[in-house]
Amino acid sequence: MTHAPILAPSLLAGDHAHLASTAAIVEQMGLSWLHVDIMDGHFVPNLTFGPETVAALRRHGSKLFFDTHLMLSEPQRYIDAFARAGSDQISIHIEPAYDHGAALARIRALGSKAGLVLNPDTPASAVEPFLGQVDLVLVMTVQPGFGGQPFRTDMLAKLTQLSNWRRERDLSFRLEVDGGIDLTNAPLCRAAGADTFVAGTSFFKADDKPAFATAFAGL
Ligand code: DX5
Ligand code: ZN
Repeated sequence: MTHAPILAPSLLAGDHAHLASTAAIVEQMGLSWLHVDIMDGHFVPNLTFGPETVAALRRHGSKLFFDTHLMLSEPQRYIDAFARAGSDQISIHIEPAYDHGAALARIRALGSKAGLVLNPDTPASAVEPFLGQVDLVLVMTVQPGFGGQPFRTDMLAKLTQLSNWRRERDLSFRLEVDGGIDLTNAPLCRAAGADTFVAGTSFFKADDKPAFATAFAGL
């Protein structure tokens, strides 16, 4: 199955002193998703937001779908807090050791959509056993931790593999890419099966954001 493309601007690339304004800009563009990067300074060498940030954005009236990317060594400890805060989707990395199946089930039990994320060095086979239990697979196209890094073309083969499994098994999870995504490489990702595009730097640097959003809608 082919999902319509979704552009998910990343809050990380916005002004951290004006997060609600950043969310409002995204909403005013007619977009429906906001990618929210949560970093713990341990799984990745950077720190960002916590559940209270997500809750505050919701309280300030954002109706956006909060696509929450947990870059945490122990994501299972924070699932309940982010679900309660208003995360519509919670994506957890496959690399740390915890009960991934139980964590995905917990996310769904709390009423959020469940995503599984792979770092660039992690093969597609690592998430294969869980493909029937997820709403989204996120293929990192940079090493996570920072915005503004160059897209890794060598991730396209991984997308193709996941897209093939999705088709062969008649599954319907979304296939998301995150890291260095712009209008040059997004069509390559789309051709390899991606349907959900995180854009931090490229979105916030675009002078004509409506045109940028329209280009993604047409992928
Ligand atoms: C990186 C984050 C990304 C980041 C992408 O660790 O997971 O979501 O915001 O930013 P750009 O689009 O600038 O690579
Ligand atoms: Zn992210």
